[in-house]
Amino acid sequence: MLNIGILGAGTVGTGVINVLHQKSLEFENKIGSPIKVKSIAVKNIEKHKSSFSDNLIFTDKPENVVNDPEIDIIVELIGGEYPAKDLIIQAIKNGKHIVTANKEVISKHGYEIFNLAKKMGVLVYIEGSVAGGIPIIQTLKRDLIANKVNSLMGIINGTTNYILTEMAQKKRDFSEVLQEAQKLGYAEADPTSDIEAYDATYKLSIIVSLIFGNHVKVEEIYREGIDKISIRDIEYAQKLGYTIKLLAIAKHHDDGSYEARVHPTMINSEHPLASVNGAFNAIWLNGDCVGDFMLYGKGAGQLPTTSAVVADILNLAIDIKAKNILASSESHDYIKIAPIEKITSKYYVRLSTADQPGVMGIIGRDLGLSEVSINSLWQANTGEDTAEIVLITHPVTEANMNKAINLLKSSEGIKQINSLIRVE
Ligand SMILES: NC(=O)c1ccc[n+]([C@@H]2O[C@H](COP(=O)([O-])OP(=O)(O)OC[C@H]3O[C@@H](n4cnc5c(N)ncnc54)[C@H](OP(=O)(O)O)[C@@H]3O)[C@@H](O)[C@H]2O)c1
Repeated sequence: MLNIGILGAGTVGTGVINVLHQKSLEFENKIGSPIKVKSIAVKNIEKHKSSFSDNLIFTDKPENVVNDPEIDIIVELIGGEYPAKDLIIQAIKNGKHIVTANKEVISKHGYEIFNLAKKMGVLVYIEGSVAGGIPIIQTLKRDLIANKVNSLMGIINGTTNYILTEMAQKKRDFSEVLQEAQKLGYAEADPTSDIEAYDATYKLSIIVSLIFGNHVKVEEIYREGIDKISIRDIEYAQKLGYTIKLLAIAKHHDDGSYEARVHPTMINSEHPLASVNGAFNAIWLNGDCVGDFMLYGKGAGQLPTTSAVVADILNLAIDIKAKNILASSESHDYIKIAPIEKITSKYYVRLSTADQPGVMGIIGRDLGLSEVSINSLWQANTGEDTAEIVLITHPVTEANMNKAINLLKSSEGIKQINSLIRVE
């Protein structure tokens, strides 16, 4: 018999408690021994009174759960950085195995947690922390272990993908779609973590620690949200055969350098990620053995995340039995992510200019001085004396692109740089 203690009985915790109860016999047959939920910690015990039963013990003292000597596995589903991180550390010190869906804690403190777990000989399983129901962690750790992952691109935030999809399909503005997403429960009342891409950056830092084999500091990952994306850019993208997505991108170059960044990206509409719509998530990668590969599914929500968390509990039970105790607790060092100025990308630029002769020459001059060459260019009249110019560059370093933008900003005839979007 394995005793588990659950910290948090909110959206995911409730799903986990219900599924463990409903499928207890099935799970016992699969792993060869029963799993018992010994106690559940919540913040406001009154709220959970209707769930009290002889079999479920609720407490508002999570430290009692992590210090209970009879508990083998702590399932942390409180969320946020504190007290979740301290409870996980205390549980590991007490020799307990951990299952968590907490991307923020693993992203910021994974190094300390996995090193301590290794020292204590316990396992830490984190499948629910990235892309909800999509089994990306185990896939990278076990099934793709033979590969060097050269490049990975993921849609790993359902809220922003829902908003961009609605904007593209219904030609509606960002703020209008965001308000509707909040009403429908696709976006939080405070959407900052999703819109400004903190959530996706935490998740990418966890993914890259697996594909690069070492931890990264989350603050080294370049982050840019979707709030500046306009309908006009989405329409231009569509005309040019592209789709705008918030992509988490990781690359391991032959010279040994590493890239990790999250930002709105124009991708070819024929790329498999371009057709991932609504709140769905997907992770595409290229491995040196497997070639192109993609996982697709629901990246959040009660049951999809429960699927990942319960899978971790069952796999932990199997690994504990098999004494496969170092299965997940490798400890590694930090590696450096290349600064964004060093990356090379194609860029989409939309700018407003005076509608007068010579402007094209000025644009060509400023780009040329910055070693930026144009792949394609379009011009449209947007007002009496204003023209709109859209161009896509050949691959260029971010540093050179910034130099070109700064030159353009102060050049005669250039009224405004409206958008700058990286193109993959
Ligand atoms: N929701 C999703 O779709 C989803 C998807 C992927 C990953 N995750 C991750 O899963 C974790 C849980 O998310 P959730 O959506 O289930 O959160 P939630 O609905 O807000 O639930 C949080 C639970 O933690 C309890 N809690 C909060 N502070 C506590 C404290 N100091 N001591 C004891 N209990 C405390 C709350 O108690 P009360 O009930 O008494 O308030 C509640 O039961 C997070 O790390 C989240 O990022 C969620």
